[in-house]
Amino acid sequence: MESISVGLLGLGTVGCGVVKVIENHQDKLMHQIGCPVKIKKALVQEVNKVRDVDVDTSILTLNPEDVLLDPEIDIIVEVMGDIEKTKEYLIQAIRQKKHVVTANKDLMAVYGPELLSLASENQCDLFYEASVAGGIPILRSLVDGLASDRITKMMGIVNGTTNFILTKMTKEGRSFDDVLSEAQALGYAEADPTADVGGLDAARKMAILSTLGFSMNIDLDDVKIKGITEVTGEDLQYAKQFGYTMKLIGYAHREDDRVEVSVEPTLLEDSHPLASVHDEYNAVYVYGEAVGETMFYGPGAGGLPTATAVVSDLVGVMKNMRLGVNGKSAVSPQFSKLLKENEEIYSKYFLRLHVEDEVGVLASVTSVFSRNGASFKKVLQNPLQEQKKAEIVLVTHQASLKNFEKILMELRDLEAVHLVKSTYRVEGGNA
Ligand code: NAP
Ligand code: HSE
Repeated sequence: MESISVGLLGLGTVGCGVVKVIENHQDKLMHQIGCPVKIKKALVQEVNKVRDVDVDTSILTLNPEDVLLDPEIDIIVEVMGDIEKTKEYLIQAIRQKKHVVTANKDLMAVYGPELLSLASENQCDLFYEASVAGGIPILRSLVDGLASDRITKMMGIVNGTTNFILTKMTKEGRSFDDVLSEAQALGYAEADPTADVGGLDAARKMAILSTLGFSMNIDLDDVKIKGITEVTGEDLQYAKQFGYTMKLIGYAHREDDRVEVSVEPTLLEDSHPLASVHDEYNAVYVYGEAVGETMFYGPGAGGLPTATAVVSDLVGVMKNMRLGVNGKSAVSPQFSKLLKENEEIYSKYFLRLHVEDEVGVLASVTSVFSRNGASFKKVLQNPLQEQKKAEIVLVTHQASLKNFEKILMELRDLEAVHLVKSTYRVEGGNA
């Protein structure tokens, strides 16, 4: 091959990173694939926009068909975002026998299985390493590096924006809105950051990770989701006082072939390996029956880190082209999906309760927990400014989710309990 031509769908934060990595690492790419890589066309929304890279404006187009139907383009790199329209573009590209590399977790979490099967029917590669945890090669590690093992647990900080927000709120006492604006300016957040802060972005990544790690088709709807929008400075202060760090944790656990997958703000014991992952950094903890504990750490968002994963996928496609094995690497899931019931899901829980400050209240609260088989690991009571009102802050030992939901219902029914102010899952340390 004289050269490989790439068509870009999108030339924003990640697209510009891709152009830079290809330009700056051209020698290394040449060495690995034996010919230069050229960007032939790039689909954008606005041709005259100021961009982070100098590109010849003649390669920019507003017409998707200039990229999707160009017979000289071998590989499509999709870094534009969106779901439905992008799915149609990629179907069109694959039907034209073009290989696809995408960073789009929104798309892959919903239409991944369908697109992967279309790609393999057309002898095309469809790689999506950049869709989870930006620059960390976690998907390849699950599929190739840990191919011989049986993975039973994955815990991840897989959203850079929320980790950045929680870190700055905790360490610098800054407000949620102030830090979110900074995360947007730095290019970590999605165009609409609702999916970041609401936990949906992390849930999409956990659906992709658990599908690959557990070899089971886990849909986005199977992931229980709670975001960080209701986390307050007071919650973070109490967390610190109790020796915990708050993180938005993606949790995927398999026991006896049944799985649970969730994304929620979680209090981690300060000694937990994920508690020291700060700012926009991501990390994924993976437990395999044979290998034991492993940790993958790195930048989870941003143009250049994400672009390294995209361009590494490009190299993978090009190596497959040389070997004539495109479309042969995707393996369909081995197991049927079995989800755990709430009585099979166990955790410790942190709660803040606003109560009447009078005789017998603590006893009535305690009896709700003991009736439902949950005991306390830590308890604290503070007076509130309002007269004769107090705040009880507590952490339980392990309890089932079914029992915990019953506890919450019974607490809300107690006359002396005015408000269940916040509740969080707690991970790490002893049961
Ligand atoms: P971005 O900065 O908003 O860039 C999107 C690009 O796509 C822009 O160049 C835009 O054109 C173009 N575009 C968007 N909609 C289009 C449409 N309908 N028709 C034509 N062009 C369109 O987004 P990004 O941050 O690079 O993210 C791109 C993808 O990578 C997303 O799927 C995102 O979830 C994923 N991702 C991002 C990161 C990150 O850190 N940013 C990390 C991992 C994965 P104009 O420039 O003309 O507006
Ligand atoms: N908005 C995403 C994040 C980008 O903050 O992690 C990387 O997928």
